[in-house]
Amino acid sequence: MNEGDPKIIVALDFPDAAPAWSLIDRLEPGSCRMKIGKEMFTRLGPRFVEEVIARGFDVFLDLKYHDIPNTVAAACDAAADLGVWMMNLHASGGRRMMETAMQRLAGRSHRPLLIAVTILTSLSQEELNEIGFPGTPEENVQRLAGLARESGLDGVVCSPREAARLRQAMGQEFLLVTPGVRPASASLDDQKRVMTPGDAVRAGASYLVVGRPITAADDPPAALRSIAAECAASG
Ligand code: C5P
Repeated sequence: MNEGDPKIIVALDFPDAAPAWSLIDRLEPGSCRMKIGKEMFTRLGPRFVEEVIARGFDVFLDLKYHDIPNTVAAACDAAADLGVWMMNLHASGGRRMMETAMQRLAGRSHRPLLIAVTILTSLSQEELNEIGFPGTPEENVQRLAGLARESGLDGVVCSPREAARLRQAMGQEFLLVTPGVRPASASLDDQKRVMTPGDAVRAGASYLVVGRPITAADDPPAALRSIAAECAASG
C-alpha cells in the first residue's frame, strides 16, 4: 500500500490504453490512487491492471461483483492475485456472499480492501421500488451499509451527500469512498448532486473518486494538487 495514504482515487475512464498512459505518466504514485472500472478492464484485461500496479500505483478495481458466494469469492481471490489495493461488490448479493468473499481474502498477508456498493445513485425512487426494494434510496443505503459492515467489509462506495449520516451510523473505522466530487470551479459534467472535495472530507469521506476534473484538465497534476490541498485543509 502507498505509505502516504493519498485520499484521491483518479477514475481512469478512457476508451483505450494510450490516453490512460499519457495521464498516468504525468502523475506520481505518492499523490493519488487509480480506479480501473468495467470499460478499461473489459478492453484491456488484467495485464493493464498489473502494469498500472507495476508503475507504483495502488489500484481500486471497480468491477462491482454480484453473483453466487463461491463465484464472487473466487473473483475476489483472482483480483487479490493481481495485487489490487481495493475491490468492490454489490451488498445486495447478501450477507453470505459478502462473508464468503471476506473469508477468502482474510488469510493474505496483504489483504486488499473490500468495499460494497449499496444502491446505485443512478436509480430513482420509482426504479428502486420497481425492482422490489421498498423505502427510500436513503433507507436502503443505510440498511445495506449496515449489512456490509456486519458482514465484515471495510466500507462502502457512497454519494458524498450520504457520507455524514453513514459516518455517524457506521463509526470512524468504516471506509466511505465517494465519487460525485467537483471542485467549486469545475464543470459538473453529467453529475447532478455533487459536493466539493473539502465538503466531502468534512462530511466523513475517507477517499474521493475523481475523474474528469483531473483526467480532462489542461494540467492534470495541477488539478490533482489543488484537490488534494483542499482535502488536506479539510481533514
Ligand atoms: O468523471 P467523474 O469524476 O464524474 O467520474 C466519477 C467516477 O466514479 C466514474 O468512474 C463513475 O463511474 C464513478 N461513479 C460515480 N457515481 C457513482 C458510482 C460510481 O460517478 N454513484
